[in-house]
Amino acid sequence: MTNTATLATLSGSDLAADPNWWRQASVYQIYPRSFSDSNGDGLGDIKGITAKVPYLKELGIDAVWLSPFYPSALADGGYDVDDYRDVDPKLGTLADFDEMSAALHAAGIKLIADIVPNHSSDRHEWFQEALAAPRGSAARERYIFRDGLGENGELPPSDWESVFGGPAWERITEPDGTPGQWYMHIFAKEQPDLNWANREIRDDFLKTLRFWSDRGVDGFRVDVAHALTKDLTEPLISKVELSAANTGTDGFPDGSHPFWDRDEVHEVYAEWREVFNEYNPPRTAVAEAWVHATRRARYASPEGLGQAFNFDLLQADFDAGEFREIIARNLAEATESGASSTWVFSNHDVVRHATRYGLPQGGGKHAQGQDGKGWLLAGAPVEELDVELGLRRARAATLLMLALPGSAYLYQGEELGLQEVAEIPDAERQDPTFFRNKGVEIGRDGCRVPLPWAPEGTSFGFGAGGAHLPQPAWFGRYAVAAQDGVEGSTLELYRKALKLRRELQTSEELQWQESGSADVLRFSRPGGWQTVTNFGDAPVDLPAGEVLASSGPLEDGQLPANTTVWLR
Ligand code: GLC
Repeated sequence: MTNTATLATLSGSDLAADPNWWRQASVYQIYPRSFSDSNGDGLGDIKGITAKVPYLKELGIDAVWLSPFYPSALADGGYDVDDYRDVDPKLGTLADFDEMSAALHAAGIKLIADIVPNHSSDRHEWFQEALAAPRGSAARERYIFRDGLGENGELPPSDWESVFGGPAWERITEPDGTPGQWYMHIFAKEQPDLNWANREIRDDFLKTLRFWSDRGVDGFRVDVAHALTKDLTEPLISKVELSAANTGTDGFPDGSHPFWDRDEVHEVYAEWREVFNEYNPPRTAVAEAWVHATRRARYASPEGLGQAFNFDLLQADFDAGEFREIIARNLAEATESGASSTWVFSNHDVVRHATRYGLPQGGGKHAQGQDGKGWLLAGAPVEELDVELGLRRARAATLLMLALPGSAYLYQGEELGLQEVAEIPDAERQDPTFFRNKGVEIGRDGCRVPLPWAPEGTSFGFGAGGAHLPQPAWFGRYAVAAQDGVEGSTLELYRKALKLRRELQTSEELQWQESGSADVLRFSRPGGWQTVTNFGDAPVDLPAGEVLASSGPLEDGQLPANTTVWLR
């Protein structure tokens, strides 16, 4: 395992060619429709991203992960893809994409594209063809069609539920106008699941991987990587039997679930790896796989995708013991698989961590939704939110994360300390979770509200028009321009830490140090650099050393509660 590349000593072009660039990268997730709007239509776009490349460069990130930018009716925020090899005309053109990619690369920033292989959209030409074709046709074989149960096929083929709520099957009308077969959709009904037992699907995705790799994409984030292959041997097992068989804490521990985390899925990724390795440096990938912890390493193996998200910290309370256990376990797992660890507190699917940590019970609970996914449960006690505490803890947690070996995944707006937006009127919500699950979950729109760039004005500088999700009045306080150059602002903290991280990280080693308190975590990294986080309620003494960065002001040389410091 090459884990000792001294990134700090590599020059720009060496770094671009370094096959290990991803191992300790800081990756910034852009949710394109909510980042920056260049044409004033209320929707962020590709040109908007290109215009902000100087901002990204100054932030000090190594790579951008772009959530789906493909043609889409936005039934699920772009995760319903009409065409895998094009750009949504609402967002721009392929030429705009190339221009953005060139600008990012010129700024020394890699580009990771989100790829959505489990399902297409219902507007994809394949699905339209399947609807027009008869039962048993090759066109239907690209998806998962079944006859219904009941006398006239009026009941779904099984009682499985969609992750977004409601049944996982939808009945179609046959070309002759009669009620017909059912198709499977683990997510929204606009997201029919593809049939990965079909060679044509596999080949087409290899083509898509090459298409974007040829265009300069450096890596892929693989959406619901654990769902592609399915065992749909009949009779289909009922959800009651399934939940009885699920003895694991987070997913099935043995690959026996009919559609989550089956062993065969790794055959798909072995083929993808061959494609990745056709390029120099090889294209990288990170799996979004909400699987049992014991099975994550399979996705992260060098013969597979190479890296997998670990959402453990994201689901943890702000608690020294929990953090330490998670960090130690994941570093050990990474050593075993040959991957590097991944760390993440926020993304487009979960409540922002500055908000979670301001809620009672330390925050972990509020990241959780159904199926262990981190979607805000309706009824999260927003009125009990302590904004100041949340932000303080978020800054401390992030500074700790940026000191860890492995890749750090950041979500747009967290560098501003942005809070979740709870006050979106029902009529303006977009997330299918909200509509399919009324009254149970309010969905993920609250972390997808367009970014504030300016403290006031039209859509707070997001664009010259409105914002596709309403921005609250308090957004201006968090604007980029309100924090730029302001000593102690969250933006300046991120900039400083990201820059230092690049300079300081030499190897992937971490050494725990005695902290003198169960509420304090302390570890060192090679190069005489150490990190101390105080998770407790009272200030603690600091070890000797020069303060390199601190998530909040020190008090008389002591480390206050909910604060992290880097020392040398
Ligand atoms: C992943 C995405 C999420 C999307 C779902 C279906 O979990 O992160 O946003 O809704 O897949 O594609």
